[in-house]
Amino acid sequence: MVARKIIAIVGSYRPGGITDQLVETTLSAARACGAETETVWLIDLAMRHCGNCRACMQQPGDGRGRCVIEDDVPGLLARIDRADGVVLASPVNIGNVTAVTRQFMERCAGAAYWPWGQAAPSLRAGKARRPAVLISSSAAPAWMARLFMGAAGALRQWAAMLGVRPVGVVWQGRVSEEQMTLSPSVRTRALALGRQLAGSL
Ligand SMILES: Cc1cc2nc3c(=O)[nH]c(=O)nc-3n(C[C@H](O)[C@H](O)[C@H](O)COP(=O)(O)O)c2cc1C
Repeated sequence: MVARKIIAIVGSYRPGGITDQLVETTLSAARACGAETETVWLIDLAMRHCGNCRACMQQPGDGRGRCVIEDDVPGLLARIDRADGVVLASPVNIGNVTAVTRQFMERCAGAAYWPWGQAAPSLRAGKARRPAVLISSSAAPAWMARLFMGAAGALRQWAAMLGVRPVGVVWQGRVSEEQMTLSPSVRTRALALGRQLAGSL
């Protein structure tokens, strides 16, 4: 059987931090079920910011419009498109996903078709089938952050732009210590969703 390929895109700034632990726990369960995993830290990319030229959004058709900027982003998008499952992760900073996550999201704008003269963009056709796990962490309790902060919505929007289907969210709240480990219930959920990504649930 061919191993499933899972790619994780991480918008945290802190290797070894809580978001990293959540991602690694999820991926470790996927690997234990035979999946191959790859982790990409957005802070490590050569990534320029979107120029708002809208060139990617003018191109008609179902496929993502191509960005005119030549850096690490187009290659990463191609790798995400080839993956069987995706993990999208960012901690909450100032009420939303981190700046580097937002920067990458803007570079995914070719997911929408928005010709000049049209009032609003429309997401290109195509059913999102490949599974995605959404991951975040916050100082606020998880339920509160998910309800009142923008990060949960942003992660869902990011998944829609990448054409993947969220199957679950793992969120570590009450992050209050510099060196903290995952709470047992959050860890259990990360492991279960990792197995689901690998296709064994
Ligand atoms: C600049 C900054 C802004 C933050 N803003 C919020 C916030 O608005 N709400 C919140 O609940 N936590 C906030 N936090 C706490 C982080 O979400 C939390 O520490 C998170 O677990 C960090 O993830 P990491 O371990 O991957 O770095 C903020 C942290 C920083 C450094």
